[in-house]
Amino acid sequence: MTYHSYFSQMDMQRLPRHIAVIMDGNGRWSQKRGMIRGMGHKAGAESLRAATELCRELNIEVLTVYAFSTENWKRPAAEIELLFKLFSQYLDSEIKTLLDNDIQLVASGDISALPEALHKHLQQVMDKTAHCRSMKLNLALNYGGRQELTRAMQNIAVKVQKGELQPQDISMDTISSELYTAGMPDPDLLIRPSGELRLSNFLLWQCAYSEFYFDDVMWPDFGKEDLCRAIIAYQQRDRRFGAVGEAK
Ligand code: IPE
Ligand code: IPE
Ligand code: MG
Repeated sequence: MTYHSYFSQMDMQRLPRHIAVIMDGNGRWSQKRGMIRGMGHKAGAESLRAATELCRELNIEVLTVYAFSTENWKRPAAEIELLFKLFSQYLDSEIKTLLDNDIQLVASGDISALPEALHKHLQQVMDKTAHCRSMKLNLALNYGGRQELTRAMQNIAVKVQKGELQPQDISMDTISSELYTAGMPDPDLLIRPSGELRLSNFLLWQCAYSEFYFDDVMWPDFGKEDLCRAIIAYQQRDRRFGAVGEAK
């Protein structure tokens, strides 16, 4: 049985436009196997590849993945260095697939604060895939939701100060347009594997009406089948947005 057998249970007209994933559980996955944490991060890159392939196959517009949070700087330097090395390796190994599949790589977060070589590498891949239109793979790297909102407010304050914007004209759209995700639809479905039931500072503004899907599977074990199950669960939800629901 392959993941394709799940497609018959999916309504292809009602797929999420934007899926966001908190790629969590790499450390515990390694620990369970008596391996060092880095092995889990390596295996996690494979899960990201699988998720990207499936999203592209289903014509999902945006896949946003939380790869490194602003809080992850609290980790041991050796782990951070390894993660950065793996991000770079990932970029090298994926560039061809991204181009072949018309996938644009974008980033959310303060990537300028990453090591210069990684920042440059990331920028190169973003530039090379800038013309790709079939899907956006949005890497949340050095990303924090509160930091993103703080930055947006600073940008808006500068516009007000310059007289380009009146305070009464600041709308929800103004705020959305100052976020890293400007121009993208909000996530319809937010997935967190690894059994943790929290947002960890991810997409605080954008997830106002996202459907949350939690799974006990660790991210390195999260395959296409698991993603299909999450999409099917999402389609069974009644998204009321505050209004009266569908008659059942
Ligand atoms: C997620 O896995 C990867 C990053 C945060 C970069 P973790 O490393 O958080 O794995 P656990 O939560 O310790 O199992
Ligand atoms: C969230 O996972 C960040 C990423 C997956 C990149 P963490 O493992 O850092 O989150 P906490 O510390 O459990 O909240
Ligand atoms: Mg974790």
